[in-house]
Amino acid sequence: MKIAIIGTGNMGGAIAAGLAKGKIVESGNMICTARTQKTLDKIRSMDPEIAVTTDNVMAVKEADVVILAVKPWLMENVIAGFREYVDISRQIFVSVAAGITLEELSTWIWPIQPSCVSVFRAIPNTAAAVLASMTFIASANADAEQIKLVTDIFDEMGSTMYVEERLIPAGTALASCGIAFAMRYIRAASEGGVEIGFRPDEARKIVEYTVKGAAELLLASDGHPEAEIDKVTTAGGITIKGLNEMEHEGFTSAVIKGLKACI
Ligand SMILES: NC(=O)c1ccc[n+]([C@@H]2O[C@H](COP(=O)([O-])OP(=O)(O)OC[C@H]3O[C@@H](n4cnc5c(N)ncnc54)[C@H](OP(=O)(O)O)[C@@H]3O)[C@@H](O)[C@H]2O)c1
Repeated sequence: MKIAIIGTGNMGGAIAAGLAKGKIVESGNMICTARTQKTLDKIRSMDPEIAVTTDNVMAVKEADVVILAVKPWLMENVIAGFREYVDISRQIFVSVAAGITLEELSTWIWPIQPSCVSVFRAIPNTAAAVLASMTFIASANADAEQIKLVTDIFDEMGSTMYVEERLIPAGTALASCGIAFAMRYIRAASEGGVEIGFRPDEARKIVEYTVKGAAELLLASDGHPEAEIDKVTTAGGITIKGLNEMEHEGFTSAVIKGLKACI
């Protein structure tokens, strides 16, 4: 199987890095494109076996799976540039672009008969580069085997959830924008850590491992955050004082409002 990644910037590059570390496709069977050679040089320095080109047509012609990772407003034109070389009988197309619907994709790829082209939306986050993405997948005109293939590809980069297309915007807010929210907590806690006595590098490391530990505890036990919180909040103790102070400042409400603003 050959995979082309059209647009290898932040997200396409993270996917390339994730796939290169995984087992589903050999680096030699990947071809990445970008607008500039500078971006392609970065891909080559990450893994010299990955083929790179600024020629989207060449990349698409060779591929079984085409991952489209250009900015949403460029997508229609980029597709138009390679459309006449598409072979819908064997190729599947996976867009990671926010806001581009399956209907738009299939119409841009195969305007004569959009319902004959297998299209996917996959919304990963940038943790794909370290195989820790949370990726939402939706599809149209795809059979069970194709859905398994795309799920397997993104499973290599972390976790996946196959959803109806209507849930993609909510998934984007929670996981793609969500990674920035988690980073902002890490920054805020690190700054607090400096104020209470640690060097900035120490404070950041402490917070990063604390957040990683919290997520791993919940993933390992399938537990509820509040149950884990109960384990560390002694009656009249310092943890509950800290938590309540954060809530007085609107912590939970701020997070929910931020998520809703993303949709
Ligand atoms: N970043 C995220 O967290 C995230 C999460 C989920 C989904 N997405 C989606 O991922 C897509 C890419 O976002 P991004 O943040 O990765 O943007 P980005 O860093 O700007 O990457 C876009 C890439 O597209 C390349 N490109 C531009 N025109 C091209 C063309 N005609 N042919 C081939 N490649 C071309 C650019 O090449 P040059 O570098 O040479 O200019 C660049 O490498 C977007 O649709 C976005 O909605 C992003």
